[in-house]
Amino acid sequence: MQSHTSAPGKIILCGEHAVVYGRPAIALPLSKIRARASVAPGAAGIGIRFDAPNLGRRWLLAAAPGDPLSELTLATLKQLGITRIPDIQITITSDIPIASGMGSGAAIATALVRALATAFGRNLSTAEISALVYTSEQRYHGTPSGIDNTVIAYEQAIWFQRHSESPHLIEPLPIAAPFTLVIGDTGVRSATRLPVGEVRRRWQEDPARYEALFDLVADVVHQARHALARGDVATLGALLDRNQEALEQIGVSSPELERLITAARRAGAAGAKLSGGGWGGVMIALVDPETVVSVREALLAAGAARVLETTVSASA
Ligand code: PMV
Repeated sequence: MQSHTSAPGKIILCGEHAVVYGRPAIALPLSKIRARASVAPGAAGIGIRFDAPNLGRRWLLAAAPGDPLSELTLATLKQLGITRIPDIQITITSDIPIASGMGSGAAIATALVRALATAFGRNLSTAEISALVYTSEQRYHGTPSGIDNTVIAYEQAIWFQRHSESPHLIEPLPIAAPFTLVIGDTGVRSATRLPVGEVRRRWQEDPARYEALFDLVADVVHQARHALARGDVATLGALLDRNQEALEQIGVSSPELERLITAARRAGAAGAKLSGGGWGGVMIALVDPETVVSVREALLAAGAARVLETTVSASA
């Protein structure tokens, strides 16, 4: 009954926000930045104790049954067929900055579900894990598209399209040539549900305008898929720039994001855009071996709180 598991962070390459309205999006796992969960036997009669030192939290399930991670734990135990509350100690740690568009909540939730299944010797399919995490994400987002839990649970580059009635379209994404992204964190924390809620309000007010913007994003995402399949990094860069323009019109960019995006482009990035919910969080810049260092330095000089790098490998 000991288990240690982990789950990656993620970024959205293109298609955020429009994905909530049924358009496709492309998401990538960040395998080097992870959340971890472990389950160990706990003191008899205590029930479930959580310790999340990075989050600065410790709690007993019995004292906070409505906490999202308590609820997810109960839902997972139910799914595993465990009816009596066990005496266990759950420890959660994460390298993923919270509320920054890198999937911290979904990664913690995924690691937790996996750790519970492993500790009790049960097998949950990736789809089952993703579904449990989705239910938990609904508490944070209101209307999550499902892209975060999916890319994190499957840990591969995905093409994702939400369908309201039939199962979502989830496809592994063919990538012909590796490419590198520099990720710049504005340091401005932004809870995804806020921009998501604002976009919904604006869409309700002027559906024709927003549907047209979402269609424009969908067109960019389709072209990005073809560019990735051809290994055409230059075209991908221009598409990221077009996606950023649409996100600005949708109203989810911010001065801090735009300062980093402009700095990255001036330093030679092939393209740059915000990634995730917006209003804060992170931006991504497409770079090559010649520009990676200058873009990284330009982002730090422009005030990025943190700069990360990820190389996406070619796939079949
Ligand atoms: O969790 P974030 O901040 O990466 O944003 C998720 C992307 C959105 O499209 C804005 C929302 C969603 O549920 O897909």
